[in-house]
Amino acid sequence: MASLEIKKAGNPVLKEICKPVDRVDSKLRKLLDDMADTLYDANGVGLAAPQVGIPIRVVVIDVGDGLIEMVNPVIRYKEGEQLGAEGCLSVPGIFGDVKRAEVVKVEFTDRKNKRKVLTGSGLLARCIQHELDHLEGRLFIDIAESLRREED
Ligand code: CO
Repeated sequence: MASLEIKKAGNPVLKEICKPVDRVDSKLRKLLDDMADTLYDANGVGLAAPQVGIPIRVVVIDVGDGLIEMVNPVIRYKEGEQLGAEGCLSVPGIFGDVKRAEVVKVEFTDRKNKRKVLTGSGLLARCIQHELDHLEGRLFIDIAESLRREED
């Protein structure tokens, strides 16, 4: 396992519409492992493959309840609304308030090529929506209602 370099806003890979994965193979499982390492090393809660320079539909998330790996995720259902602060490992030092659905139901493929469904609310729902935006080339700074620098 290895920690990967996180691409920063301004890098064109973060603007790409990411390609679907055909099948999860050993190479993709290695990428999932490396992405998890990268996420934990950076103390993040979510990371999308384009953030490590690979424009494919893969994300890893851990909001404190364990690692979730999603390949080809699709949101099937959204409900409610939440407005809250977000940041991004690709946009260090910047935070902003972003409106998101309160609950999302997401369908995805896991590392064993099994199709799964997960329903999340609150921070998990926010994180899922943020990471899936990365797969469309969208950053939270593109849709935030307000932005601010981290106060130190
Ligand atoms: Co992000």
